[in-house]
Amino acid sequence: MTEHVSIETRDACVDFPIFDAKSRSLKKAFLGKAGGSIGRNNSDVVVVEALRDINLSLKEGDRIGLVGHNGAGKSTLLRLLSGIYEPTRGSASIRGRVAPVFDLGVGMDPEISGYENIIIRGLFLGQTRKQMLAKMDEIAEFTELGEYLSMPLRTYSTGMRVRVAMGVVTSIDPEILLLDEGIGAVDAEFMKKARVRLQALVERSGILVFASHSNEFLAQLCDTAMWIDHGRIRQQGGIEDVVRAYEGDDAADHVRHVIYELDREKSGLTASAERDARSDRSNERPVRTAAEAEAESA
Ligand SMILES: Nc1ncnc2c1ncn2[C@@H]1O[C@H](COP(=O)(O)OP(=O)(O)O)[C@@H](O)[C@H]1O
Ligand SMILES: [Mg+2]
Repeated sequence: MTEHVSIETRDACVDFPIFDAKSRSLKKAFLGKAGGSIGRNNSDVVVVEALRDINLSLKEGDRIGLVGHNGAGKSTLLRLLSGIYEPTRGSASIRGRVAPVFDLGVGMDPEISGYENIIIRGLFLGQTRKQMLAKMDEIAEFTELGEYLSMPLRTYSTGMRVRVAMGVVTSIDPEILLLDEGIGAVDAEFMKKARVRLQALVERSGILVFASHSNEFLAQLCDTAMWIDHGRIRQQGGIEDVVRAYEGDDAADHVRHVIYELDREKSGLTASAERDARSDRSNERPVRTAAEAEAESA
């Protein structure tokens, strides 16, 4: 991975013009908790002001989580960072190959097989056909779908489709990985298995931006967080601090606990790896059998 991976936005704004908005008397005064502000642009067209003055500078190795109410602008920000949306004002410069994972099912074709869908989905996420073929066996094994992978996708249950989608998503090598919610919404048993792959995916990604309502997930995958509120950046910093400001002490304490457990898990692994290394070294020492010792002394 190289230094050319970066994301830079300057005073970026995204408006959605709503040409069929009925009320001529629509006022900007009422600002609900959820949703972006509603206003009018220069041509007097009603607009949803989804993002306002976003200044963001991300580089290789950054793992940032997005929190905020429904309609705060998280998904819009991810789409801006993926290049799907252009800023209405300001600028957004994205350098690197982007893997946008917004909707697990997008790009899947019900009429073709699981195998074929794995390739198509991979291409959509910026991989080549050759890369996907090389990963096919490993993805197939992860999905545990066996012979089903030869059947058309329309014969799969929702959970089976999610397995295919998660298999592909966690197999790619993205420079910029953009994850939007949803990925946590699979059954717990499978998620446990997917978590390890998801963490490995994040580790080999250049930049991660992850919108989630699960603080546990955020703490597992990210090291900083950003609170988006009514289209603006409200706070940016450590996950615990941002969650405390956004959701309060209980949520922040939970985050601290998750991070503590993760660190312990990691250092536990390190400790046992060291133990293994020590016992390997002790195995290297030539061990004389009783017979050898006897032969020597004779
Ligand atoms: N395609 C769209 N057309 C019009 N308004 C939109 C569109 N997408 C999002 N919005 C509005 O933009 C605001 C931000 O939405 P979104 O980015 O989806 O929020 P979040 O992901 O934080 O829930 C909301 O007020 C939403 O209604
Ligand atoms: Mg969203």
